[in-house]
Amino acid sequence: MLPFSRNARSMRTSEIRDLMSLATRPDIISFSGGMPNNDLFPIAELDEIYQSLSNKDKQTGMQYGPTPGYPPLLESLADYLASKGLPVAANRLIITTGSLQAISLLGKVFLDPDDDILVENPCFIGAISVFKSYQACMRTIALDEDGILITELEKALHRYPGAKLLYLTPYFHNPAGIIYSDEKKKAVLNLLHGKNLVLLEDDPYGELYFDEKDLPLTMPMKATADEPAPICYIGSFSKIFGPGMRLGWLLTAQEIYDKCELAKQSFDACTATFNQVLADKFLRSGKLGPYLSRLRQAYARRAGIMLRALQTCMPEGVRWNMPRGGFYIWVQLPQKMDATEILKKAITGGAVFVSGKTFDPHGVRNNCLRLSFSHTPENQIDAGVRIIAEAIKSQIALK
Ligand SMILES: Cc1ncc(COP(=O)(O)O)c(C=O)c1O
Repeated sequence: MLPFSRNARSMRTSEIRDLMSLATRPDIISFSGGMPNNDLFPIAELDEIYQSLSNKDKQTGMQYGPTPGYPPLLESLADYLASKGLPVAANRLIITTGSLQAISLLGKVFLDPDDDILVENPCFIGAISVFKSYQACMRTIALDEDGILITELEKALHRYPGAKLLYLTPYFHNPAGIIYSDEKKKAVLNLLHGKNLVLLEDDPYGELYFDEKDLPLTMPMKATADEPAPICYIGSFSKIFGPGMRLGWLLTAQEIYDKCELAKQSFDACTATFNQVLADKFLRSGKLGPYLSRLRQAYARRAGIMLRALQTCMPEGVRWNMPRGGFYIWVQLPQKMDATEILKKAITGGAVFVSGKTFDPHGVRNNCLRLSFSHTPENQIDAGVRIIAEAIKSQIALK
């Protein structure tokens, strides 16, 4: 037996991952990936940017860069974040290799084995994996349609006074699809007064609102004048440029930044410089605004198609959120139903989704499932939802 670390020995492939590997038939309709649509990438803009690069830009791009990021990108990104009301002058910005690396860096600098942390349930699977890898005890708090349950958060803060982190995804949540109301955000901040805890505000989807009138709701908590507890604001180019660029960022106070910079030196020394050069030019080109408008319309249309399909064919007792942005619809099944059983049937029928327990840090709650409308070809959404509805109906008929 190889001398793996205790940590590596405790890593397990999930039942869901194994099931997903069965779903590789070319004709399968997939709602499983939380990824942008290939046809929507800004390829023309990228070609133009590449053509405009000088030899010096290209040489810089091929070289190692400073650990916190390529200085021109740090500058253009700071301007972009400042335009959203974020306090860039009073904080430090670090470019990360995807925003998942920002979560990982924060895990590395704050967590010891068995530390308590507070997370939403359901929760982003990538963050669950990071927190597990640092052997944290995830204490979960449920969500409703406008954010975390405040009374439950209050109880958890009382019950776990040593909790080090609170991890939230308030804007077009993955997987729950919701956006926090202003009241919820205020209530969260109020509860953090006087607590020795750090808030991780993860915001990869905030730009993808479907209706301009929801723009005020996407205002980050980090942008409020008074931070009752240190807020680490985490963002990403993945959903607004392309996840293959592997570019994210962390905006945080100097003291946390210093530790994260040191930790990043041992992770990867620096994030891919060439991609940072491209992202910098993209931000400075004025092309991001029109591109985002295109994305918002395209994803809103896809969400609409999926909602209409759900309304037409889901049986009684099945509920879902009305997405106002982002990539996801979270479907809640009748109480005793098991989404994994439905997934098996749906795969046979030709459609695939992610079952709920994947997003439960305890891997238990499974009467729910996530449908991503972002990646699936528009003309397959209706047929795919129908297959899943049939799988649910046949499961109900067994009861
Ligand atoms: C909530 C959330 N946070 C972070 C990420 C990680 O994004 P990336 O590492 O590609 O920036 C994702 C990706 O799906 C996400 O849904």
